[in-house]
Amino acid sequence: MSTLTILPSGATLDVSEGANLLQTLLAAGEKLVSKCGGKASCGACHVFIKEGRKGVSKMTPEENAKLDSLVGVSSKSRLACQVNILGTEPVTVELLGALSGF
Ligand code: FES
Repeated sequence: MSTLTILPSGATLDVSEGANLLQTLLAAGEKLVSKCGGKASCGACHVFIKEGRKGVSKMTPEENAKLDSLVGVSSKSRLACQVNILGTEPVTVELLGALSGF
């Protein structure tokens, strides 16, 4: 179990190890779009992992390639659909609104 903090709302959730970040955010009622069904191809689920980057799964080549094509990407960028919570440390995720890839 790990704590997930969601910005800008400031909501906190207890998240099970292995939980998918996009599904967790949607279940929490956050407004995040998934146009590709979680296949790392639309970029609409672009978020920043503000804290706890060791608490989430590593980036795949597919995710890295998609992020390279998006605007507003930083070293904190991830595609929420490709991120699983590891449960090793608390994670803070920032939803980007207009800066996400859609
Ligand atoms: S939902 Fe399409 S890239 Fe994540």
